[in-house]
Amino acid sequence: MSDKPKRLLLGITGGVGAYKAAELARLLVKRGIDVQVVMTQAACQFIGPATLQALSGKPVFTDLWDNRIDTGMAHIEFTRGVDGVMIAPASADFLFKLAHGVADDLLSTLCLARSCPLLAAPAMNQQMWSNAATQRNVAQLRRDGVTLLGPDYGVQACGEIGMGRMLEPEALVERIEAAFQPKVLKDLSVLVTAGPTFEAIDAVRGITNRSSGKMGFAVARAAHEAGARVTLVAGPTCLPPLSDATVLPVESAQQMLDAVERAIDDVDIFISVAAVADYYVLNPSEQKIKKDAHILTLELAPNPDIVANIVSRPNAPFCVGFAAESENLYEFAELKRRRKNLPLLAANLVQDAVGTDDSELVLFDDEGAHPLARAPKQVLARQLIAHIAKLFAAHQQSPSAP
Ligand code: C5P
Repeated sequence: MSDKPKRLLLGITGGVGAYKAAELARLLVKRGIDVQVVMTQAACQFIGPATLQALSGKPVFTDLWDNRIDTGMAHIEFTRGVDGVMIAPASADFLFKLAHGVADDLLSTLCLARSCPLLAAPAMNQQMWSNAATQRNVAQLRRDGVTLLGPDYGVQACGEIGMGRMLEPEALVERIEAAFQPKVLKDLSVLVTAGPTFEAIDAVRGITNRSSGKMGFAVARAAHEAGARVTLVAGPTCLPPLSDATVLPVESAQQMLDAVERAIDDVDIFISVAAVADYYVLNPSEQKIKKDAHILTLELAPNPDIVANIVSRPNAPFCVGFAAESENLYEFAELKRRRKNLPLLAANLVQDAVGTDDSELVLFDDEGAHPLARAPKQVLARQLIAHIAKLFAAHQQSPSAP
């Protein structure tokens, strides 16, 4: 897969989740993707082709013998010129057909006759999903290079609870876009730090900051989408766990440094997104400090600078820093990049970025400043990864550069 999809063939098979395929078609069209829908006969029992025709703006095909295709070769014609085939929902029976090369209707035949990427969103009863036969088919499909999106865990149409729900259309659109990201970091190893650190004062209290971890998690996800093996060292955040990376949870800056140093061997690119606390508390109390009427004085000592530590190692990976400034963004960020001897630093204004889903980012490198327009953090993270990949490739050509 090499770029954002422009044309997709949406295959719908027989399952209750078929009604969600209508919303999926609508969202894909809304994103400017040209969608051609093909449905199995069983899918037509759950939702009418007319609905999909209205939403995709194109005739829907269901029959291998449909004579509306000029050449009479619908099963071959349909996948020529599309960027991928997306099956949603993909029933247990259809996964079996895909895994075994069965071609007994239009959709299964065109899947067999395609050379473009195939994605499938499984949807079925939880018992059907966990059945050994289904799992064998799923394993075979993964070996064959099919991208499986989901299923999700939750309440099912039959009332049972378990794995087997089709991913929601919004989530599917995101996962489809992710699957089509260019593999610019293929086979590289990337280490990302994210979130705040927490420096203990006593058993319950500590010093931390407002970093949500969203940008660091987005960067880790974008690196994974770009084909990298990703390790994420994460300070305390409220974000759902990331399945796309090996996650090493830490609390303090010292723990973050230890985790980074343990993971750094063989890392090609280190992206230091974490908002590391500048100071830690000397002699934190093991017990909760009792309140009294006196002034409490905390003694603070500077934390180690993790990124500076890594960049100064022999054979250091390609290091990328982040900076959140509250004023003079361009001046302070470039000064920080030079002081930390980083080839690339991404900076934003705290008031624009901390805790939000959208942000603005300016990338600073030897060529100057590259402002990225305000966008969701995941979009910015993808742009950052594209920039890193370009600089990393150049750096590989002349590794003596900083
Ligand atoms: O100096 P400042 O904290 O603004 O620098 C920000 C950059 O340095 C970020 O990339 C951050 O992850 C990294 N950093 C670090 N260790 C510290 C402080 C900051 O790695 N102790």
